[in-house]
Amino acid sequence: MTITSWRATRRTRAADEAEVDALIWAWRQACEGAGLFQQVDTATGPTLRVPRLVDITLGPPTVFIVELLASQIAADVRRVAFRMAGHLGAVALQIEPRGLRHVRVELLTVDPLAALLPLELPRLEPGVLLGRGEDGIYVVEDFERGAHTIVQGVTRSGKSVFTYGVLAQLAGNPRAIVAGCDPTGLLWRPFAGSRHEEWQVSGVADPLAHEVLLERLVAEMDERITELPADRDTIEINDKHPMILVVLEELAGLLRCVDGLKTPKDDPGKRLRALIARLLAESAKVGIRVLILVQRAEAAVIGAFERAMCSLRISFRTDNRASVDLLHPGTPADLADSHTTAQPGIALMSAPGHELARIRAPFLGGYAEYASAVATACLPDVQS
Ligand SMILES: Nc1ncnc2c1ncn2[C@@H]1O[C@H](COP(=O)(O)OP(=O)(O)OP(=O)(O)O)[C@@H](O)[C@H]1O
Ligand SMILES: [Mg+2]
Repeated sequence: MTITSWRATRRTRAADEAEVDALIWAWRQACEGAGLFQQVDTATGPTLRVPRLVDITLGPPTVFIVELLASQIAADVRRVAFRMAGHLGAVALQIEPRGLRHVRVELLTVDPLAALLPLELPRLEPGVLLGRGEDGIYVVEDFERGAHTIVQGVTRSGKSVFTYGVLAQLAGNPRAIVAGCDPTGLLWRPFAGSRHEEWQVSGVADPLAHEVLLERLVAEMDERITELPADRDTIEINDKHPMILVVLEELAGLLRCVDGLKTPKDDPGKRLRALIARLLAESAKVGIRVLILVQRAEAAVIGAFERAMCSLRISFRTDNRASVDLLHPGTPADLADSHTTAQPGIALMSAPGHELARIRAPFLGGYAEYASAVATACLPDVQS
């Protein structure tokens, strides 16, 4: 093994040696404890082999280069990094592949998501910024092609701020319509007078207005499906056929409210659920995306079939491990447990083709900043 950064003086060199020895020992212990080992039989009995440290740079930041064991991949280390970090004196480990057989492990002393991620508008880059990962890389979603999305989180965890960010980014895009149901009555106020307004229903004074809107969206979906050219199975998004993002804010509250109107002869809640299920099942190929916001993605609010249709899944702080499991099955128990104390704006995200990641959502500001960003983006509609 090489030590890349001995410090200058003799005295500190001795201290560095002690630190390196301690790190090597801690690494071995942490690997064994987290199950990152292979057992081999030797003449003297079974022995545990752990990935070998081939280089240490003393920090901060302290960095290891680690040789993986046979058939291990970087993701194997990443999966247990959360368990190992504390034992190595770090709050988190950042793991990156180095070639085919090594990983670079950085011992982070501050949470890489601790810093605020300001949302500067207008954004010039394509796609909608959803957040920044622990590796510092921006997570960007192309809603024109992407998937249906579900966002959960307990109260004050950051769902609305996240939604403000997404909607403010889409409001001025001529190829996007922001539609949906908002029983809280806040989300759509800044869109007044814009081309989006006719697709938005607010408040609960007239719960059946939400059903009328969803019926209209399903009719639009059916029309788009009928109009699909013979040689295409997806619609081309353009100004004439914009992407429609259907936001269902506080879905549990909306369903509760509509369920309250149930009579022996009429069940509007059932109709509303059926319309949402149709949108989730059939609309993606014709440029309609659903974004569902709930405190907890439990079966009473969103059935297993509907949940399965939402392939982009984001959980802000949850009340317990089981809630994390609803959207991200297989999350390591200790990561799920620690998410019950996550700061507002910090989320777990699962997306097609991506491993489960921790992200920090962008922060546009409070409601006033949201209102002003949307109003500015919608100005050309309002003036025309
Ligand atoms: N991405 C973020 N970065 C920094 N702070 C945030 C972020 N998201 C939320 N916060 C802080 O947390 C507070 C609560 O967030 P928000 O209103 O989005 O919660 P919520 O999940 O919508 O709650 P509720 O279910 O009660 O509506 C915000 O007022 C803000 O101070
Ligand atoms: Mg909210």
